[in-house]
Amino acid sequence: MENNIGKEFMRMTRYANLEQSAQSQGIPMPPIELPLTEAARVLSLPDGKSLSLPALDLAALIEKRETLRKYSQQALSQAELAYLLWGTQGVKSINEKNITRRMVPSAGARHAFETFLLINRVDGLEAGLYRYLALKHQLAHLPAPADFNAQLTQACLNQPHVANSAVTFIWVADAQRMVWRYCQRGYRYMFLDAGHVCQNLYLLAESIGCGVCALAAYDDDLVNAALNLDGENQFAIYLATLGKRD
Ligand SMILES: Cc1cc2nc3c(=O)[nH]c(=O)nc-3n(C[C@H](O)[C@H](O)[C@H](O)COP(=O)(O)O)c2cc1C
Repeated sequence: MENNIGKEFMRMTRYANLEQSAQSQGIPMPPIELPLTEAARVLSLPDGKSLSLPALDLAALIEKRETLRKYSQQALSQAELAYLLWGTQGVKSINEKNITRRMVPSAGARHAFETFLLINRVDGLEAGLYRYLALKHQLAHLPAPADFNAQLTQACLNQPHVANSAVTFIWVADAQRMVWRYCQRGYRYMFLDAGHVCQNLYLLAESIGCGVCALAAYDDDLVNAALNLDGENQFAIYLATLGKRD
């Protein structure tokens, strides 16, 4: 039988087919950041704009951008990592209703993402699994098995640039934040939002001598299991490997 799930998804997420949203039923807004497990160790990050960069030519960066899958062994500095996190998910402001404005657009400013990181080479940081705490611009070092790099690489269908990256970004959708307002149509918006985030990463990376490879060929179950996500309420939506250019 023909599998029409894509067409069905597009049909069922038309406005005419949406149910009443949780927001319009008066259900309180979900939290805007996932809680931390007790075992996480919180670290401070340099300011996202602490790097002194030469004047940047945006048109030149856009033209220069290309996918890079081979990286040098040079580590990133913590200031560079902070710059990349600030520019992809950093918070500009938060209002009295707990709505954040960030460096990227998001449908209805729902900002349904968390940034998990496989860190292999950042000066002064132990290799392992981390999460960006966007609201406080901090980093949480999360408990993970010693072979986390190998696990994530395998979950990404053994793409070698995961294992060799200085950092692999894993954007995780916390679906309820989006679905609360937009119902099932919110899934469309999360996929669209993820594109903006990754494009910012590509351009910021070019500005500091790094390259990026967007990555969507991965085994959902394995990536979600590696991050301790249930795969339904929270799930990996997009990844990107990054490292210094040779
Ligand atoms: C949504 C998306 C998913 C991608 N997934 C992968 C991937 O899993 N592995 C990979 O090596 N490249 C992946 N890429 C990178 C593309 O192959 C690359 O962007 C394309 O070949 C064009 O090259 P350019 O980015 O240098 O212009 C992905 C790109 C996008 C936009």
